[in-house]
Amino acid sequence: MRREIAINESWAFLGPDGQEQTVNLPHTWNGADGQDGGNDYWRGTCTYSRTFPAPETADGERAYLEFRGVNASAAVELNGTAVGTHDGGYSTFRWDVTNLLKPENALTVRVDNSVNDRVYPQKADFTFYGGIYRDVLLRVVPAEHFDLDTFGGEGLKVTPTVQGKDGAVRVETFHGVAGAEVRVHLLDADGNAVAEGTGTDVTLTIPDVRLWDGVKDPYLYAAEAALVRDGVELDKVSARFGVRSFRVDPDKGFFLNGRLYPLHGVSRHQDWKGIGNAITKEHHRRDMELIREIGANTIRLAHYQHDQYFYDLCDEYGMVVWAEIPYISEHMPNGRENAVSQMKELITQNYNHPCIVCWGVSNEITISTKDNKDMLDNHRVLNNLCHELDPTRFTTLACYAICAPFNPVAHITDVVSWNLYLGWYVPGLFLNDLWMNFFHFRYPKRALGYSEYGCEAMPNLHSSHPRRGDHTEEYQCIYNEYMLKCFERHPFLWATHLWNMFDFAADARDQGGEPGMNHKGVVTFDRKIKKDSFYLYKAWWSGEPFVHICGSRYRDRPEHLTEVKVYTNQPKVALYLNGERIEEKTGEKVFAFQVPLHGETKLEARAGECSDACTLRYVETPNPAYTLPKKSGKSANWV
Ligand code: GCU
Repeated sequence: MRREIAINESWAFLGPDGQEQTVNLPHTWNGADGQDGGNDYWRGTCTYSRTFPAPETADGERAYLEFRGVNASAAVELNGTAVGTHDGGYSTFRWDVTNLLKPENALTVRVDNSVNDRVYPQKADFTFYGGIYRDVLLRVVPAEHFDLDTFGGEGLKVTPTVQGKDGAVRVETFHGVAGAEVRVHLLDADGNAVAEGTGTDVTLTIPDVRLWDGVKDPYLYAAEAALVRDGVELDKVSARFGVRSFRVDPDKGFFLNGRLYPLHGVSRHQDWKGIGNAITKEHHRRDMELIREIGANTIRLAHYQHDQYFYDLCDEYGMVVWAEIPYISEHMPNGRENAVSQMKELITQNYNHPCIVCWGVSNEITISTKDNKDMLDNHRVLNNLCHELDPTRFTTLACYAICAPFNPVAHITDVVSWNLYLGWYVPGLFLNDLWMNFFHFRYPKRALGYSEYGCEAMPNLHSSHPRRGDHTEEYQCIYNEYMLKCFERHPFLWATHLWNMFDFAADARDQGGEPGMNHKGVVTFDRKIKKDSFYLYKAWWSGEPFVHICGSRYRDRPEHLTEVKVYTNQPKVALYLNGERIEEKTGEKVFAFQVPLHGETKLEARAGECSDACTLRYVETPNPAYTLPKKSGKSANWV
């Protein structure tokens, strides 16, 4: 029988300081210096080593050594013998090490995140944390087993399609075992068999299939495949899957299971404060909990392959996912092999996830591209590769704001999205409407999405006169109020993805306030504070009744009449001042009140059964703590 043995504990880590320490996985050596600005986090080669006893094996069982995330390049040695190398910091890789095993084994992994010109990413607005930051495990499998040697796949490919009221589920399995047959069972969520068949490429029907229907009903089946010879089961492999249909209409947007399903959601980076990418399942669950609370129905998992566990959560909670490789910011003539390899791994390892509907080929690749011809050719190679490996999903890319709409790179993939910060990096929120209208008018048959939009806000910065670039919560609210209404005016967009759900680290940044950070999240880096804008999105996207008073952190106000905004998904809000009801408003999502302020003032907002409260106070002079501090001078341009 298959079994897994995690080997995450007690690694001897030889770090940048040349000192050896004992660490447990997940681990990164850039958890601190990758988040403090200056673009000076340590990049180079560090070594992890440990011993482990050979797993007990019988009847010729094989032992695979599997790594689920090592950034960025790994060289693995077992008992003094080179096992192999891997380039790419975000995917699973493994080797059969059975023949190298001794009763006690010495494993050494050299991990390199240094600058180079062939492994993506090399230039981007996020920290490339070095380390073994996901699980390492020994996988013991039967002597004769399904394929585990192809781009980190599991030897099982499930392709479900909707056929009328039924599901047609193609199950392909891969093995090299002579004289064996493959028996396939499809199981419903309760484990009841709903179909069965035999063969390495068999299509089974699920009558009256229950669809995977997004956040409403993300129903999951499972496919089980058994390798059998002379009635004896040699190996078994399984995968969950969901039956759904989807398409993009350039005029109407995204359709799921035949009905219009406007995709409104967020992007997510995987790093957390203090620990970088070395996060646990608890951190993944917390991120999903917050994304569900805001009411998103789609997630752009930028800018790289995420942990399998998070794609599983997206399957379970019905999130439509944009998955992508880190072919980003700068096209490298020597990077083609790696971009192709990362795309093969991304698709092979994630093909069975019903949440994924598209493969992202690149992000803002025109920022620093010298060889346009090679870059365009690389896009065609990747686009064709996606279609060849997976004809069921469409391809997309995220274009740089300054990439002209007629740039050929924007016309290779099946659909296109743009990263546009009109109203943040450049003045003029109205330009978003102009841009969308122009593109749709000029290219009416080309489906357009917004892969990024957003603006910075720090929960400690406030102003009664918010303006672009001040990093206040108040400006972030103004910006997002406009953008949500703007998208409502342009329903042809195939998807919108807010940049970003969470603040994240970009060590090259220094905008003042907190070097090394990108504060475009609607939730802080430690996931402890939901900024006011979080509640604006919740008012638009979530049905869970709530009411939120904005500006509760803008406590000291140098004015006797101040604006207090309230976000809610309820139709009516009453505002109480020191216990007295001063006003009730009927409206939608955003309610603005003018509130007299003398001394300390307790405010309470009530909407239906919900309420929220805060205390403000009048001050003579503005609180300097609310203004963006000067840059630290540690700045460095990441572009
Ligand atoms: C770009 C880029 C992101 C970056 C964002 C920003 O669009 O794709 O990775 O973080 O801009 O400037 O915040």
